[in-house]
Amino acid sequence: MTGTDALSGRNWPPTPDFDTWPVEHLPVEAGTDGRIVTVAWDDGRISRYHAIWLRDNAADPATHSPATREQVGHPWDLPEDPVASSVAVAANGSLDVTFMPEGRTVAYHPGWLRALDYSNGRRDDLGEIAPTCWDRRRLEAPPTFDGPACLDRDGALLEALEALMEYGIVRLRDVPADETAVQRAAERIGTIRNSNFGFLFDVKTAPAESRKAADSNAYFSGALAPHTDLATREYEPGLQLLHCLRNTTRGGRAIYVDGFAVADELRRTDAGLWRAVTQIEWTFTNRSPATDYRWRAPLVVLDGNGDPCEIRATTFLRGPLNVDFGDVEAAYAGLRAFQTLAASARFGMTFDYTPGDLVIFDNRRVLHGRTAFDDAVGERALKGCYMEREEVLSRIRVLRRALRAKPG
Ligand SMILES: [Fe+2]
Repeated sequence: MTGTDALSGRNWPPTPDFDTWPVEHLPVEAGTDGRIVTVAWDDGRISRYHAIWLRDNAADPATHSPATREQVGHPWDLPEDPVASSVAVAANGSLDVTFMPEGRTVAYHPGWLRALDYSNGRRDDLGEIAPTCWDRRRLEAPPTFDGPACLDRDGALLEALEALMEYGIVRLRDVPADETAVQRAAERIGTIRNSNFGFLFDVKTAPAESRKAADSNAYFSGALAPHTDLATREYEPGLQLLHCLRNTTRGGRAIYVDGFAVADELRRTDAGLWRAVTQIEWTFTNRSPATDYRWRAPLVVLDGNGDPCEIRATTFLRGPLNVDFGDVEAAYAGLRAFQTLAASARFGMTFDYTPGDLVIFDNRRVLHGRTAFDDAVGERALKGCYMEREEVLSRIRVLRRALRAKPG
């Protein structure tokens, strides 16, 4: 678990994780009153750490497994009132803390200690990237990246994934137009989420006979109004990948809409509609002889700060509205207003799929749709799959960690 910092070549103490902690500052002085350890850094910053916090985060084998870095002790194993009886800055710049009554001395990595300085307002960086909302004027086309580069190079993939978290959509170009490329691309990010549409699914023109068994409007040639997929599920898929393999039909233009931007427009302009789309729940039910998924949720789900964090707009899978008598007309007004804005030219980004295009989008934020296409001429084939947002966030953190660890 002991690491060597690439910049200084010093041997640092272990940390209770697999992350990389560059050392940009060193402690110069440390003191303790038993309960609180105070550290003075070489740039003048003063940091304070509770003895119980330091003891809990000790990276010694009795506290964290050297193999898994997971905690091996139970909460009741922690001394109820640990005392940091003495502290010292070691010759290599790490911080040594001795705890009583155990008589245990633990060394702390200065890069880790500095980065986790909660006494100066530090909060967990979950790697989340604030969304930049867009309409068609602000974003005419998806942020576009070279597909083969993203499949081969970590730096290129990281850039694309950061754009995906910011805008909710990216397009990779020239991804080989074969049947398994979408799986290879998805697994560069993380784990694919299976569904009743299959591990991978096809959205393609098909002989009229075979459509009798179709279980989604998407398998016909008609226009699809902007929507999210699978609002019928407790966890609406956080990510969708659509890879164009063939496209020689007329029409079938892609439409993508930032649902957060549409929600913001309602928030700014009409308090009644805002209440309707954020408070009144619809029941979403999938229609299938074999499955019966259901979930109740408003069209726009808010986070703890009152901001949109999820759009549930699989409007063609709504069950009969079942809400308070007085909310029925408001629910329909909100639904109509939200979908009318989402379908308007102001919010919808449109483009044609080119074979090799792989569009990755946040299915809980960005609505997707298409214009109708003429399936009497040519062929249209998209291959897709679902994933979760957290797969992207995990990959971003790991890629950032690896890039931080590279010298220079
Ligand atoms: Fe869809």
